[in-house]
Amino acid sequence: MAQATFHFPRGFLWGTATASHQVEGNNTNNSWYAWEQQTGRIANGHKSGSACDWWGGRWRDDFNRASESGQNAHRFSVEWSRIQPLPDKWDETALDRYRDMARGLIERGMTPMVTLHHFSDPLWLVEKGGWESDAAAEYFVPFVRKVVEALREYVNLWVTINEPNVFAASSFLLGDFPPGKHDLGATMTAMTNLVRAHAGAYHAIHEIQPSAQVGMAVMYRGFIPAKSWSPLDRWSAGLQSSMFNEFFLRAASSGVLHFPAWFKRIPQAKGTQDYLGLNYYTQELISFDFSKAGDLFCRRFYSPDAEMSEGDFIANQPEGIFTALKYFKQFNLPIFITENGIEDSQDKLRPRYIMEHLHQIWRAVNFNYPIKGYFHWTLVDNFEWERGWTQRFGLWELDAETQARRKRPSADLYAEICRENGISSEMAAKYTPEILERMFPN
Ligand code: GAL
Repeated sequence: MAQATFHFPRGFLWGTATASHQVEGNNTNNSWYAWEQQTGRIANGHKSGSACDWWGGRWRDDFNRASESGQNAHRFSVEWSRIQPLPDKWDETALDRYRDMARGLIERGMTPMVTLHHFSDPLWLVEKGGWESDAAAEYFVPFVRKVVEALREYVNLWVTINEPNVFAASSFLLGDFPPGKHDLGATMTAMTNLVRAHAGAYHAIHEIQPSAQVGMAVMYRGFIPAKSWSPLDRWSAGLQSSMFNEFFLRAASSGVLHFPAWFKRIPQAKGTQDYLGLNYYTQELISFDFSKAGDLFCRRFYSPDAEMSEGDFIANQPEGIFTALKYFKQFNLPIFITENGIEDSQDKLRPRYIMEHLHQIWRAVNFNYPIKGYFHWTLVDNFEWERGWTQRFGLWELDAETQARRKRPSADLYAEICRENGISSEMAAKYTPEILERMFPN
């Protein structure tokens, strides 16, 4: 076997992504804390508790782990409910902590990417109607200004809102996230308000920091018609894609919100992304199902022959990330992969998942797709929302009781990738011999 390396462009960012509520611990003033206190909301009644104890200072050791293993970037989020505990109260000490974290990354030679909203809302916002209220964007923008003023010295790569599509669907349609609704009308209202908030944040950030790079992180799930010959399956997959994958990107590009039967203009949203953030995990099959009006007449399921993650949550479908990138490319903006990863406590599938997804990303790079970085989800096992601690996405394993970390083989693989700025046949031989021949044919 000839030795081969698939290199990435010079200056490529290699990191991991995290989110405040999932890693900080003791976030007691937000929507998720309240949700965790209700019975039946989180798998096994799990609670975020002290999470990875970043608020207690363990971000330092975790950032050391990341930098010592060759990562040159990290994506983290700030917690709105800490910075603005009440509508008329700012907590400067919380802002100082986030400054320490951003500076901590710079000192370790890592580029910070900061997310301003990652699923958790202050309780006061919830009381004011949350994202169903047209005022949500007006509350969000002053918070964004406050954060950007505080962190601008260290940060110029911003994610306004993480997965507005997942957030709206899970909170208002599927009911897995607070406030647990099943209401299509509320979902669309929230989607509209999230676009407004993103647009407001985009303009506010650029006023304060003209050189900033601002975008959203949108989840793209592959939706493949189960029967490619069926017009109904194709229609159903197309509708899913347009409402879930495409809605926010189109809105932030054109200023037009495309709903199934009508559209709405939000002119201030036009052209409000400097880059596109892609969160990609998996792809699934779609078939038309007349009995599922609430789900836009669609049944979603994984291909029966797909290779599944340990809890059957994610199918390993690396070609789907290429499809996603192809869709993103048409917007002619730089692209970051802002999340990609798999739940795998035993680290059996993860090394292959990483190699195969990076192989597809590398393919896209070779077609001159403007891909600038990759953030693996995630650094250390964390609190996975309604799935609690049942899923393990970390390169490092966490014992939440003792706060001990243990490195998984994937952390070593990822370190080699970061240092090499590429994936090589030697890495495949060492970590994923089963795909060596396929990935590096001689
Ligand atoms: C994403 C989300 C992350 C993380 C990940 C894995 O949808 O943005 O916060 O939980 O899924 O479950």
